[in-house]
Amino acid sequence: MIDDILRENADLTEKRINELLPECDKKYKSAVSAARYSLLNGGKRIRPVILLEFYRLCGGNGKGAVDFAAALEMIHTYSLIHDDLPCMDNDDFRRGKPSCHKAYGETTALLAGDLLLTNAFSVAAGVSDIPADRALKAISVLAKKAGISGMVGGQVIDLEIEKTGADIDTVKDMYLLKTGALLEAAAVIGCVLAGADEGKIAAAEKYASSVGLAFQIIDDILDSTGDEKLLGKPVGSDEKNSKVTYVSKYGVEKSRQIAAELTNEALTALNVFDGDKSRLTELTEYLLTRKF
Ligand code: IPE
Ligand code: IPE
Ligand code: MG
Ligand code: MG
Ligand code: MG
Repeated sequence: MIDDILRENADLTEKRINELLPECDKKYKSAVSAARYSLLNGGKRIRPVILLEFYRLCGGNGKGAVDFAAALEMIHTYSLIHDDLPCMDNDDFRRGKPSCHKAYGETTALLAGDLLLTNAFSVAAGVSDIPADRALKAISVLAKKAGISGMVGGQVIDLEIEKTGADIDTVKDMYLLKTGALLEAAAVIGCVLAGADEGKIAAAEKYASSVGLAFQIIDDILDSTGDEKLLGKPVGSDEKNSKVTYVSKYGVEKSRQIAAELTNEALTALNVFDGDKSRLTELTEYLLTRKF
């Protein structure tokens, strides 16, 4: 069943991404090819899955939510392209292939990231079958969670504390931003597009911040103990870059225990929703045990 949940939502999102960002034959083709290279084939599409599952849980059934799922995946992919650059984590593999800058060079990779970020907002603003007030609110959430008070802010702290070290509270705040924020965007946008009330939106945000923190802790564990082939990206990247992580602070076992507690908190946050939560529950449990 988890395979179906992941596949169905990923297929919808990937099909739409292909339509929204087709190959082009203009002079700037190289950046489009680089963006498509990183965007298509390989990602787990967790953010689109969360967005679309919350949308349906809140009664949504339109097509426009898929455009927001595609936009969010574009932003997430841009964050990965830039994250891998030599000036950031300097990693040569991503989603089972050479990183964008390894395949296309640093300049094109940088610009591919820029175009994905910008295009994402063009896609979101172009949605047609969502009421304008809901679409506007969702775009505002997307901007806030992707920007300096969200993912970008977390990446800034991540790179700063490579040099200075940090206590666990700072690491936690950094994870909530660099990874939690885009997962929060997914859950909140799903609810907003379906017209959910403020109580449900707040519960979705709480769900996603717990899942987001757990997701990054599992990412740390996989970075130290995972199988590089399955993972599709290098193991040992955090140690190479002297990152302060949950694993470096607490070790693998305690980190896994903390991720399990956060997963329970996330499941509790789902209590305010009255519909069928079985798909989101299954997804949440899978995220704790994932191997890539
Ligand atoms: C990787 O995200 C970056 C983190 C926030 C830990 P994912 O593990 O969702 O990567 P893809 O999209 O499946 O490649
Ligand atoms: C990245 O954290 C979070 C992003 C915003 C891209 P990591 O640097 O640990 O992600 P991976 O391990 O490279 O995917
Ligand atoms: Mg990083
Ligand atoms: Mg990285
Ligand atoms: Mg990592």
